[in-house]
Amino acid sequence: MSTPTEPAPSSDEFLPELRALRQSRFFTDRPVPREDLERILDIARWTGSAKNSQPWHLVVVEDRETNAELATYGAFTQFLAGVAASIVIVLDGDGRSQAYDEGRLSERAMLAAAHLGLGSGTAWFGTSEARAQVRELLGIPEHLHPYSAVGLGYTDASRAQAAPALRGRKPFEEIVSWGRYSGPAT
Ligand SMILES: Cc1cc2nc3c(=O)[nH]c(=O)nc-3n(C[C@H](O)[C@H](O)[C@H](O)COP(=O)(O)O)c2cc1C
Repeated sequence: MSTPTEPAPSSDEFLPELRALRQSRFFTDRPVPREDLERILDIARWTGSAKNSQPWHLVVVEDRETNAELATYGAFTQFLAGVAASIVIVLDGDGRSQAYDEGRLSERAMLAAAHLGLGSGTAWFGTSEARAQVRELLGIPEHLHPYSAVGLGYTDASRAQAAPALRGRKPFEEIVSWGRYSGPAT
């Protein structure tokens, strides 16, 4: 097995980039170079997983019609109709551990994309019906689970990416306790 060799960026560039990662939902028509997709996939491949099980297979969809079809399957996946490419994460197992591994992989892919100047967004195939449609479209065997995809492209900066209710975060003090739990009791 090879190991990653590129030097880590300095924290001055890196930490603001981590903090700034947001879901993109509108993209320009500009295609994403295959080389960039390969770099993102290779970084995603190095994601840690429980017992190094790597319970995933990644289906890259560059065809816009196929992405437009995927866009119709989930409740909030419409944005896939405008992506240049999507990475459908196919999980071997649907337990908590695989869900955790999937989240780590998709966040890593999204951060890699951001570093390459790309926008990205999670698309969730939340129902068994939606997952069956994804399986059928992409030829995924019955025993595997396509819960989500990462859509990729160049963000269309002229459009608001999210409704106001989806922006912002809970205050720092509300979600952090130091030393002893001080969050809500119920
Ligand atoms: C498990 C999960 C599923 C998500 N599914 C969708 C989705 O189907 N469609 C979508 O537009 N955004 C989806 N998102 C993105 C969230 O809505 C978004 O991260 C959240 O509203 C915060 O916005 P921000 O990432 O722009 O800061 C999902 C995020 C997660 C973690």
